[in-house]
Amino acid sequence: MYPEKKIPIIIDCDTGIDDLLALLLAVQSPLLDILGATTTAGNQTIENTTRNTLDALEFLGRPDIPVAVGRDRPLYRNVLAQGSIHGANGVGGYRFPAAKRTPDHRAAPEFVRDLLAACPDKVTLVALAPLTNIAVLLEKYPACKERIDKILFMGGSIATGNPTPVATANVWYDPEAARAVIASGIPVVMCSLNCSRGAYLTKAELAKVRGVGGPAAAMADEVLKAYYATTGGQNPRGLNIHDLCTMMYLTDPGMFTGDWYFVDVECKGELTCGMTVVDYEDRLHKPREEKTVYFLKTADRDRFADNFFRALKSYG
Ligand code: RIB
Ligand code: CA
Repeated sequence: MYPEKKIPIIIDCDTGIDDLLALLLAVQSPLLDILGATTTAGNQTIENTTRNTLDALEFLGRPDIPVAVGRDRPLYRNVLAQGSIHGANGVGGYRFPAAKRTPDHRAAPEFVRDLLAACPDKVTLVALAPLTNIAVLLEKYPACKERIDKILFMGGSIATGNPTPVATANVWYDPEAARAVIASGIPVVMCSLNCSRGAYLTKAELAKVRGVGGPAAAMADEVLKAYYATTGGQNPRGLNIHDLCTMMYLTDPGMFTGDWYFVDVECKGELTCGMTVVDYEDRLHKPREEKTVYFLKTADRDRFADNFFRALKSYG
């Protein structure tokens, strides 16, 4: 059964193997209306993440989804992405046919501002990358806040991290941007690392991906093999696909548990820069309206795998 109204979304990504699989899920979902995508540096340089996003959308059959280029570096830190986990081209060496189009002429903030203004409903921003583009948007065009329903973000954690013991990649890369977005007052659904680590494909499931048949499954098989080669050792139970898990919050919210918390970001700490400080035990006694982060804690693993295979099969 199809919903009466799809959820309008704009995807901000640093495509990236797990971003790519999140796009694969979103594109085939009858629940989502993808208004556009913006790119940022993170997993790879802005040139690579933009090319991957254009190529992937065309490969997945949606060359009509406009793509705009975002920032090539964090707000204040003069570092350029180099990447390693996602390979030299950002998608594990996979070669898509080159997209036949170029990005939108507008920069990401102006592009998103215009999409928000043109949409009759409030829009969900899906941030699968450092929050740089969204921080710039909110700083330059604060009126946009009224047009945003929520920001679904891959990142944040309690007592764990990936580039550091306490910071997750998308916060660590641009902590000031994450801090500004979280403090904006817009509801942020944080798909935490604690949550996404519980969502994985087992080795037996990974071995079945290509057998689904069709070009999308063959592509997924190749990029998953590359991802497993660089990150497979991180979870002895299987392979985590963080951005894919995040996107599932929109297509199957019932597979998650979570709660509202006050959250801030450490931007200075010698050991803790990029850490999300979650007032998990309510030490600060913040009122509900200041608890603007819905922190996802767990994801149903079996549903995660089922949803992924269902999406793959839908490509035929
Ligand atoms: O920690 C995982 C996140 O960092 C994902 O968004 C991945 O693509 C990288 O950007
Ligand atoms: Ca990402």
